[in-house]
Amino acid sequence: MGFDQYHEPPEELPARTRTFARLCASLTEEAEAIGWYEQRLAVEQDPEALAVMRNAQTEEFKHFAMDLEFLLRRTPVWREIARGILFQEGDIVEAGEEAEEGAGLGGSGGGGQPGSLGIGSLKGAGL
Ligand SMILES: [Fe+2]
Repeated sequence: MGFDQYHEPPEELPARTRTFARLCASLTEEAEAIGWYEQRLAVEQDPEALAVMRNAQTEEFKHFAMDLEFLLRRTPVWREIARGILFQEGDIVEAGEEAEEGAGLGGSGGGGQPGSLGIGSLKGAGL
């Protein structure tokens, strides 16, 4: 098992941050698995093998969604931005910019108070 999900000395990181980093790594791995299955499904000709791989990819969708939900529950600003983008109709980039603005971070990559995650602006947001 690798420890490369840490970019700071793990012993200096609080347990909550280590858990967060583990779930971020897991989210990445689930997304990779979904992409790998997508490629395998695109080239496989055996119907039984296709059925097995479709089932496996569906499991990865579930794993990805559970990882994401965990991380969003732990990160109010991320959750607020995701709420404005996920399951919305229309232009994705526009929704992203509006979600970022709505979270008090400004559009195009932030621009809020330096060093602020905008958490204060979410007070009373029902998170
Ligand atoms: Fe998985």
